Amino acid sequence: MRLCINIDHIATLRQARMEKEPDPVFAAYICELAGADGIVCHLREDRRHIVDRDVYTLKDTVKTKLDLEMAATDEMVKIACEIKPYMATLVPEKRQELTTEGGLDLIAAEFKVTPAIEKLKEAGIKTSVFIEPNPDSVDQALEMGADMIEIHTGKYGLLTEPLDVLAELEKISQTAKLAKELGIGVNAGHGLNYLNITAIANIPEIDEVSIGHSIIARAAFTGLENAVKDMLTIIRRVRQ
Ligand code: PXP
Repeated sequence: MRLCINIDHIATLRQARMEKEPDPVFAAYICELAGADGIVCHLREDRRHIVDRDVYTLKDTVKTKLDLEMAATDEMVKIACEIKPYMATLVPEKRQELTTEGGLDLIAAEFKVTPAIEKLKEAGIKTSVFIEPNPDSVDQALEMGADMIEIHTGKYGLLTEPLDVLAELEKISQTAKLAKELGIGVNAGHGLNYLNITAIANIPEIDEVSIGHSIIARAAFTGLENAVKDMLTIIRRVRQ
């Protein structure tokens, strides 16, 4: 299972002072040196953390693969088609939210998401859609032409009652299985940390996880390289 690191929080720290550091481009470099399989950043409409310069520079400097998280808006599609990251993950975006709050409602957003996928694919960019753990959304993602899904694990990350956790894991697992049967890639992310990653890594159909907050938070105490390596150690222990 591949580990991709979301570096938005490094940019959040920089933007808190509107300074030049810490630089998410430098963070991406350290993540790659530590063994990460890819770098994720979310260029939000309000540019609250990652800014355009970061994405353009990351495209030139990332040696693994760059996943641009974005809303399915004309502005973001235009930027993505210019930058041509390895892949783009389409997410819902609300101005007031602290972080992405859930998967896309593919039926409601179809008129925006389908043309965005078409344009991104024309530009040679692989597309992923961020969805709730729900098999119906997998069928919709496939119909819309997505290459991959990213299963929202945010609810799983917040649950504490063991039976609720198991029920949510079952939904994640069923969604991942269906996507694999239908031949599309399976990513997962949001709210994953050093404790709850084990059960996710135990779902063999999940190809890739995208993790930001817990790794950057740990990095404040251990350094970024160690924080990435610690997560890789857990994932490899489960998968080997
Ligand atoms: N995947 C998606 C689609 C996200 O929006 C985010 C948060 O930016 C993540 C993964 C990473 O979530 P976290 O920061 O909770 O690890």
